[in-house]
Amino acid sequence: MSALRRPIVIGNWKMHGLLAQAEKLTAALVHHAGCIPPSAAPYIALCPPFTALHAVRAALVAATGPAPIALGAQNCHAEPQGAYTGEISAPLLKDAGCTLVLLGHSERRHGMSETDAQVRLKAQAALAQGLKTVICVGETQAERESGDALSAVSSQLTASLPQGAEGEVWVAYEPVWAIGTGMHATRDDIVAMHRHIRSVLARLVPARAGGVPVLYGGSVKAGNVAEILAAEGVDGVLVGGASLDAGEFSAIIDAAAQV
Ligand code: PGA
Repeated sequence: MSALRRPIVIGNWKMHGLLAQAEKLTAALVHHAGCIPPSAAPYIALCPPFTALHAVRAALVAATGPAPIALGAQNCHAEPQGAYTGEISAPLLKDAGCTLVLLGHSERRHGMSETDAQVRLKAQAALAQGLKTVICVGETQAERESGDALSAVSSQLTASLPQGAEGEVWVAYEPVWAIGTGMHATRDDIVAMHRHIRSVLARLVPARAGGVPVLYGGSVKAGNVAEILAAEGVDGVLVGGASLDAGEFSAIIDAAAQV
């Protein structure tokens, strides 16, 4: 974790969050985040499902005025508008109050066959709207076991990252085998992968590689987050399951505030 940056904590609600639950959870988190002194406050974002964006935004604004918690989404389409039934574009997300979007999550890459090329086009679309664009990368269990984890992640990152685009690109390293499984990467593996990602970024976007936050995700919980955030090169965490529990996610926020 760089001493110069605020730690980053992003909650990815995936396909969870009926409106009543979304409002209650957001209100609890806003209350909790509001108790943290601004000088220690991490950057916090919530990525609810599309259907709850409006309700979460309303809860963020109603509770705090200028909300200390940002609103994000879990995906977007590469085109700004058009005949794409069922899809959501980056301008629609911006209009809904989002300032951040997750792209290339492993559940989309592996569950819905999303390709690096598609992730890159989506990232270009998101950056064009000024959204913070979090590109997710990570190796499978087979790639880790065969010693190919570093090369799998560099080829994903190289093919997914829009190199010429202006804007805020963030990277989330999420080993596929660690997502939702309760297993997280060892501290040494996290440090090695984050160092590797940083070197790939230095090659791809030399002018701003040092300024790209690199997050870790995969079974981050209140009980392991302090160790993960203390790992060299980890700028924050992307949290799935534990972000749906107000107490657990609040404890993760507290750990980030103490970095
Ligand atoms: P998890 O999910 O924290 O439930 O493992 C992380 C993610 O998918 O971003």
